[in-house]
Amino acid sequence: MIFYYINSEILQEIKNVDIFTFDPRTKRRDLFLSKDESLTDDLIARATHLFEKEVRFQLYNKSLNSLEEKTQAKIKALNSEQLELESIQRQRNELAIENLDESFNIMRELRNVVRTDDFSTLRGRAQNEFLLIPLFQSEYISSASNFLLKLFERDTQTLKEVGFCYFFAKMLKVHNWEELIDIMMACIFKDIGLTQIPYGKIRSFEDESYQKHTMYTIYVLKKAGLNLSDSAKRYILEHHEQINGQGFPRGKTEAHIAPYSQLISLVDQVFSLKFGRLDKKQRNLKQSIEMLKHRSEVPGLVYDFNINFLSSLFALLD
Ligand SMILES: [Fe+2]
Repeated sequence: MIFYYINSEILQEIKNVDIFTFDPRTKRRDLFLSKDESLTDDLIARATHLFEKEVRFQLYNKSLNSLEEKTQAKIKALNSEQLELESIQRQRNELAIENLDESFNIMRELRNVVRTDDFSTLRGRAQNEFLLIPLFQSEYISSASNFLLKLFERDTQTLKEVGFCYFFAKMLKVHNWEELIDIMMACIFKDIGLTQIPYGKIRSFEDESYQKHTMYTIYVLKKAGLNLSDSAKRYILEHHEQINGQGFPRGKTEAHIAPYSQLISLVDQVFSLKFGRLDKKQRNLKQSIEMLKHRSEVPGLVYDFNINFLSSLFALLD
Protein backbone atom coordinates (compact mmCIF):
# COMPACT_ATOMS: atom_id res chain seq x y z
CA MET A 1 0.00 0.00 0.00
CA ILE A 2 1.43 3.39 -0.98
CA PHE A 3 -1.16 5.21 1.10
CA TYR A 4 -2.51 4.36 4.54
CA TYR A 5 -6.03 5.11 5.61
CA ILE A 6 -6.58 7.13 8.78
CA ASN A 7 -9.72 7.75 10.84
CA SER A 8 -10.89 10.95 12.55
CA GLU A 9 -9.20 10.07 15.85
CA ILE A 10 -5.83 9.52 14.15
CA LEU A 11 -6.25 12.65 12.05
CA GLN A 12 -6.31 14.79 15.18
CA GLU A 13 -3.21 13.11 16.62
CA ILE A 14 -0.82 13.68 13.74
CA LYS A 15 1.29 16.67 12.77
CA ASN A 16 3.72 17.59 10.00
CA VAL A 17 2.63 15.07 7.37
CA ASP A 18 0.65 15.52 4.14
CA ILE A 19 -2.95 14.34 4.52
CA PHE A 20 -5.15 13.51 1.54
CA THR A 21 -8.84 12.94 0.97
CA PHE A 22 -9.65 9.95 -1.19
CA ASP A 23 -12.87 9.07 -2.98
CA PRO A 24 -12.93 5.29 -3.62
CA ARG A 25 -15.61 5.64 -6.30
CA THR A 26 -13.71 8.05 -8.54
CA LYS A 27 -10.24 7.13 -7.16
CA ARG A 28 -9.65 10.88 -6.83
CA ARG A 29 -7.11 11.94 -4.25
CA ASP A 30 -6.73 15.60 -3.11
CA LEU A 31 -4.36 17.23 -0.65
CA PHE A 32 -6.39 18.13 2.45
CA LEU A 33 -3.61 19.43 4.69
CA SER A 34 0.05 19.91 3.76
CA LYS A 35 2.79 19.01 6.25
CA ASP A 36 3.55 22.72 6.82
CA GLU A 37 -0.01 23.56 7.85
CA SER A 38 -1.59 22.92 11.22
CA LEU A 39 -5.03 21.50 11.84
CA THR A 40 -7.31 24.41 12.78
CA ASP A 41 -10.79 24.11 14.33
CA ASP A 42 -12.28 24.99 10.92
CA LEU A 43 -10.35 22.16 9.25
CA ILE A 44 -11.41 19.72 11.99
CA ALA A 45 -15.05 20.73 11.39
CA ARG A 46 -14.58 20.25 7.63
CA ALA A 47 -12.93 16.88 8.15
CA THR A 48 -15.76 15.75 10.46
CA HIS A 49 -18.26 16.70 7.78
CA LEU A 50 -16.28 14.78 5.14
CA PHE A 51 -15.99 11.70 7.38
CA GLU A 52 -19.77 11.78 7.79
CA LYS A 53 -20.06 11.78 3.99
CA GLU A 54 -17.80 8.70 3.99
CA VAL A 55 -14.90 10.47 2.28
CA ARG A 56 -11.71 8.62 3.27
CA PHE A 57 -8.50 10.20 4.56
CA GLN A 58 -5.02 8.94 3.79
CA LEU A 59 -1.35 9.67 4.30
CA TYR A 60 1.76 8.44 2.45
CA ASN A 61 3.13 5.20 3.86
CA LYS A 62 6.55 6.85 4.03
CA SER A 63 5.12 9.45 6.46
CA LEU A 64 4.46 6.71 9.00
CA ASN A 65 7.95 6.66 10.56
CA SER A 66 7.74 10.32 11.53
CA LEU A 67 4.73 9.68 13.77
CA GLU A 68 4.58 8.65 17.40
CA GLU A 69 4.72 4.90 17.98
CA LYS A 70 1.24 4.61 19.42
CA THR A 71 -0.19 6.46 16.40
CA GLN A 72 1.78 4.21 14.06
CA ALA A 73 0.27 1.17 15.80
CA LYS A 74 -3.26 2.54 15.36
CA ILE A 75 -2.67 3.20 11.66
CA LYS A 76 -1.26 -0.30 11.14
CA ALA A 77 -4.27 -1.90 12.87
CA LEU A 78 -6.72 0.16 10.84
CA ASN A 79 -4.99 -0.69 7.59
CA SER A 80 -4.71 -4.39 8.29
CA GLU A 81 -8.53 -4.41 8.42
CA GLN A 82 -8.51 -2.61 5.08
CA LEU A 83 -6.11 -5.17 3.60
CA GLU A 84 -8.33 -7.97 4.85
CA LEU A 85 -11.36 -6.36 3.18
CA GLU A 86 -9.42 -5.97 -0.05
CA SER A 87 -8.42 -9.61 0.08
CA ILE A 88 -12.04 -10.71 0.68
CA GLN A 89 -13.08 -8.47 -2.22
CA ARG A 90 -10.48 -10.06 -4.53
CA GLN A 91 -11.71 -13.56 -3.63
CA ARG A 92 -15.31 -12.50 -4.20
CA ASN A 93 -14.47 -10.95 -7.57
CA GLU A 94 -12.71 -14.14 -8.69
CA LEU A 95 -15.64 -16.28 -7.59
CA ALA A 96 -18.18 -14.03 -9.29
CA ILE A 97 -16.26 -13.74 -12.55
CA GLU A 98 -15.93 -17.54 -12.72
CA ASN A 99 -19.71 -17.88 -12.53
CA LEU A 100 -20.99 -14.88 -14.47
CA ASP A 101 -22.38 -15.97 -17.81
CA GLU A 102 -21.46 -13.33 -20.37
CA SER A 103 -24.46 -14.09 -22.52
CA PHE A 104 -26.87 -13.00 -19.75
CA ASN A 105 -29.27 -10.44 -21.18
CA ILE A 106 -31.40 -8.62 -18.61
CA MET A 107 -34.44 -7.96 -20.77
CA ARG A 108 -34.49 -11.51 -22.13
CA GLU A 109 -34.18 -12.98 -18.63
CA LEU A 110 -36.88 -10.71 -17.17
CA ARG A 111 -39.20 -11.73 -20.02
CA ASN A 112 -38.44 -15.35 -19.17
CA VAL A 113 -39.31 -14.77 -15.53
CA VAL A 114 -42.59 -13.10 -16.52
CA ARG A 115 -43.41 -16.03 -18.84
CA THR A 116 -42.45 -18.84 -16.45
CA ASP A 117 -42.76 -17.28 -12.97
CA ASP A 118 -39.44 -19.00 -12.21
CA PHE A 119 -37.01 -16.63 -10.44
CA SER A 120 -34.13 -19.09 -9.99
CA THR A 121 -31.94 -17.69 -12.82
CA LEU A 122 -32.38 -14.13 -11.51
CA ARG A 123 -31.54 -15.27 -8.01
CA GLY A 124 -28.32 -17.03 -9.03
CA ARG A 125 -27.26 -14.15 -11.24
CA ALA A 126 -27.97 -11.57 -8.49
CA GLN A 127 -25.96 -13.60 -5.95
CA ASN A 128 -22.94 -13.53 -8.25
CA GLU A 129 -23.33 -9.86 -9.08
CA PHE A 130 -23.60 -8.96 -5.37
CA LEU A 131 -20.15 -10.49 -4.88
CA LEU A 132 -18.83 -7.64 -7.02
CA ILE A 133 -20.18 -4.91 -4.72
CA PRO A 134 -17.09 -2.88 -3.69
CA LEU A 135 -16.85 -3.70 0.03
CA PHE A 136 -14.40 -0.95 0.96
CA GLN A 137 -16.30 1.89 -0.74
CA SER A 138 -18.19 2.65 2.47
CA GLU A 139 -19.51 0.94 5.56
CA TYR A 140 -23.09 1.30 4.28
CA ILE A 141 -22.26 -0.44 0.98
CA SER A 142 -20.25 -3.14 2.71
CA SER A 143 -22.97 -4.04 5.21
CA ALA A 144 -25.65 -3.83 2.50
CA SER A 145 -23.62 -6.22 0.34
CA ASN A 146 -23.37 -8.81 3.13
CA PHE A 147 -27.04 -8.37 4.00
CA LEU A 148 -28.14 -8.87 0.37
CA LEU A 149 -26.00 -12.00 -0.01
CA LYS A 150 -27.62 -13.40 3.14
CA LEU A 151 -31.12 -12.44 1.99
CA PHE A 152 -30.65 -14.17 -1.37
CA GLU A 153 -29.61 -17.45 0.27
CA ARG A 154 -33.26 -18.37 0.75
CA ASP A 155 -36.04 -18.34 -1.80
CA THR A 156 -38.63 -15.98 -0.30
CA GLN A 157 -41.29 -13.53 -1.50
CA THR A 158 -38.97 -10.67 -0.54
CA LEU A 159 -36.17 -12.16 -2.62
CA LYS A 160 -38.44 -12.39 -5.69
CA GLU A 161 -39.63 -8.79 -5.33
CA VAL A 162 -36.17 -7.38 -4.58
CA GLY A 163 -34.49 -9.47 -7.29
CA PHE A 164 -37.02 -8.31 -9.86
CA CYS A 165 -36.63 -4.70 -8.66
CA TYR A 166 -32.83 -4.96 -8.98
CA PHE A 167 -32.83 -6.26 -12.55
CA PHE A 168 -35.68 -3.98 -13.59
CA ALA A 169 -33.64 -0.99 -12.33
CA LYS A 170 -30.63 -2.27 -14.26
CA MET A 171 -32.78 -2.66 -17.36
CA LEU A 172 -33.66 1.02 -16.89
CA LYS A 173 -29.93 1.76 -16.98
CA VAL A 174 -29.25 2.20 -13.26
CA HIS A 175 -25.70 0.87 -12.94
CA ASN A 176 -24.27 2.66 -9.93
CA TRP A 177 -23.97 0.36 -6.89
CA GLU A 178 -25.00 3.07 -4.43
CA GLU A 179 -28.19 3.77 -6.35
CA LEU A 180 -28.94 0.07 -6.82
CA ILE A 181 -28.40 -0.60 -3.12
CA ASP A 182 -30.62 2.34 -2.12
CA ILE A 183 -33.35 1.02 -4.41
CA MET A 184 -33.06 -2.52 -3.01
CA MET A 185 -32.94 -1.37 0.64
CA ALA A 186 -36.07 0.75 0.12
CA CYS A 187 -37.77 -2.18 -1.62
CA ILE A 188 -36.93 -4.55 1.26
CA PHE A 189 -37.86 -2.31 4.19
CA LYS A 190 -40.60 -0.05 2.77
CA ASP A 191 -43.47 -1.70 4.65
CA ILE A 192 -41.81 -2.61 7.93
CA GLY A 193 -43.77 0.30 9.48
CA LEU A 194 -46.95 -1.78 9.13
CA THR A 195 -45.70 -3.73 12.16
CA GLN A 196 -46.49 -0.65 14.28
CA ILE A 197 -50.21 -0.81 13.53
CA PRO A 198 -52.27 -2.95 15.95
CA TYR A 199 -53.87 -6.06 14.42
CA GLY A 200 -57.33 -5.38 12.99
CA LYS A 201 -56.91 -1.62 12.95
CA ILE A 202 -56.61 -1.36 9.14
CA ARG A 203 -60.00 -1.76 7.51
CA SER A 204 -59.24 0.01 4.24
CA PHE A 205 -56.39 1.61 2.33
CA GLU A 206 -57.90 4.99 3.23
CA ASP A 207 -57.35 4.44 6.98
CA GLU A 208 -55.16 7.09 8.53
CA SER A 209 -52.95 4.56 10.32
CA TYR A 210 -52.31 2.66 7.06
CA GLN A 211 -51.49 5.89 5.26
CA LYS A 212 -48.86 6.66 7.87
CA HIS A 213 -46.99 3.36 7.48
CA THR A 214 -44.26 4.91 5.32
CA MET A 215 -43.40 7.25 8.21
CA TYR A 216 -43.63 4.41 10.74
CA THR A 217 -41.06 2.56 8.61
CA ILE A 218 -38.54 5.37 9.07
CA TYR A 219 -39.26 5.30 12.82
CA VAL A 220 -38.74 1.51 13.04
CA LEU A 221 -35.49 1.67 11.04
CA LYS A 222 -34.18 4.38 13.36
CA LYS A 223 -35.16 2.41 16.48
CA ALA A 224 -33.50 -0.71 15.06
CA GLY A 225 -30.30 1.24 14.32
CA LEU A 226 -30.52 0.55 10.59
CA ASN A 227 -28.92 3.55 8.96
CA LEU A 228 -30.19 3.72 5.41
CA SER A 229 -29.06 6.57 3.18
CA ASP A 230 -31.18 9.72 2.82
CA SER A 231 -32.11 8.63 -0.72
CA ALA A 232 -33.32 5.20 0.42
CA LYS A 233 -35.39 6.84 3.17
CA ARG A 234 -36.91 9.21 0.63
CA TYR A 235 -37.91 6.29 -1.63
CA ILE A 236 -39.57 4.63 1.36
CA LEU A 237 -41.46 7.79 2.33
CA GLU A 238 -42.65 8.23 -1.27
CA HIS A 239 -43.51 4.67 -2.21
CA HIS A 240 -47.26 5.42 -2.00
CA GLU A 241 -47.15 8.91 -3.48
CA GLN A 242 -48.74 9.09 -6.93
CA ILE A 243 -47.83 11.27 -9.90
CA ASN A 244 -51.45 12.57 -10.01
CA GLY A 245 -51.23 13.82 -6.42
CA GLN A 246 -53.71 11.21 -5.13
CA GLY A 247 -51.14 9.28 -3.11
CA PHE A 248 -50.17 9.38 0.54
CA PRO A 249 -48.97 10.48 3.05
CA ARG A 250 -48.33 13.90 1.49
CA GLY A 251 -50.19 13.92 -1.84
CA LYS A 252 -47.05 14.94 -3.74
CA THR A 253 -47.21 15.36 -7.51
CA GLU A 254 -44.81 13.95 -10.13
CA ALA A 255 -42.34 16.86 -10.05
CA HIS A 256 -41.83 16.30 -6.31
CA ILE A 257 -41.49 12.51 -6.33
CA ALA A 258 -38.04 10.96 -6.88
CA PRO A 259 -38.02 8.77 -10.03
CA TYR A 260 -36.71 5.77 -8.08
CA SER A 261 -39.60 6.12 -5.61
CA GLN A 262 -41.85 5.56 -8.64
CA LEU A 263 -39.82 2.55 -9.66
CA ILE A 264 -40.17 0.97 -6.20
CA SER A 265 -43.84 1.92 -6.09
CA LEU A 266 -44.49 0.23 -9.46
CA VAL A 267 -42.69 -2.96 -8.43
CA ASP A 268 -44.63 -2.84 -5.13
CA GLN A 269 -47.95 -2.78 -7.02
CA VAL A 270 -46.96 -5.69 -9.28
CA PHE A 271 -45.92 -7.87 -6.34
CA SER A 272 -48.88 -6.75 -4.22
CA LEU A 273 -51.04 -8.28 -6.97
CA LYS A 274 -48.80 -11.32 -7.31
CA PHE A 275 -48.75 -12.15 -3.61
CA GLY A 276 -52.36 -11.14 -2.94
CA ARG A 277 -51.48 -8.26 -0.63
CA LEU A 278 -54.42 -6.21 -1.96
CA ASP A 279 -57.20 -8.77 -2.31
CA LYS A 280 -55.80 -12.06 -0.86
CA LYS A 281 -55.65 -13.64 -4.36
CA GLN A 282 -52.27 -14.96 -5.50
CA ARG A 283 -51.30 -14.69 -9.17
CA ASN A 284 -48.33 -15.32 -11.39
CA LEU A 285 -46.14 -12.42 -12.47
CA LYS A 286 -47.56 -12.30 -16.00
CA GLN A 287 -51.16 -12.02 -14.78
CA SER A 288 -50.13 -9.34 -12.29
CA ILE A 289 -48.49 -7.16 -14.95
CA GLU A 290 -51.41 -7.71 -17.34
CA MET A 291 -53.87 -6.60 -14.65
CA LEU A 292 -51.93 -3.39 -14.22
CA LYS A 293 -51.84 -2.89 -17.98
CA HIS A 294 -55.60 -3.44 -18.31
CA ARG A 295 -56.31 -1.36 -15.20
CA SER A 296 -58.24 -4.21 -13.58
CA GLU A 297 -60.45 -3.23 -10.67
CA VAL A 298 -58.67 -4.24 -7.48
CA PRO A 299 -59.11 -2.29 -4.23
CA GLY A 300 -56.07 -0.11 -3.52
CA LEU A 301 -54.41 -0.79 -6.91
CA VAL A 302 -52.67 2.20 -8.51
CA TYR A 303 -52.28 2.46 -12.30
CA ASP A 304 -50.58 5.78 -13.00
CA PHE A 305 -46.81 5.78 -12.90
CA ASN A 306 -43.88 7.35 -14.68
CA ILE A 307 -44.69 6.54 -18.31
CA ASN A 308 -41.21 5.22 -19.18
CA PHE A 309 -41.24 2.79 -16.28
CA LEU A 310 -44.70 1.56 -17.24
CA SER A 311 -43.82 1.02 -20.90
CA SER A 312 -40.62 -0.82 -19.90
CA LEU A 313 -42.64 -3.05 -17.59
CA PHE A 314 -45.30 -3.80 -20.19
CA ALA A 315 -42.57 -4.55 -22.77
CA LEU A 316 -41.73 -7.59 -20.61
CA LEU A 317 -45.07 -9.12 -21.64
CA ASP A 318 -43.98 -9.30 -25.34
FE1 LIG B 1 -46.40 0.32 1.51
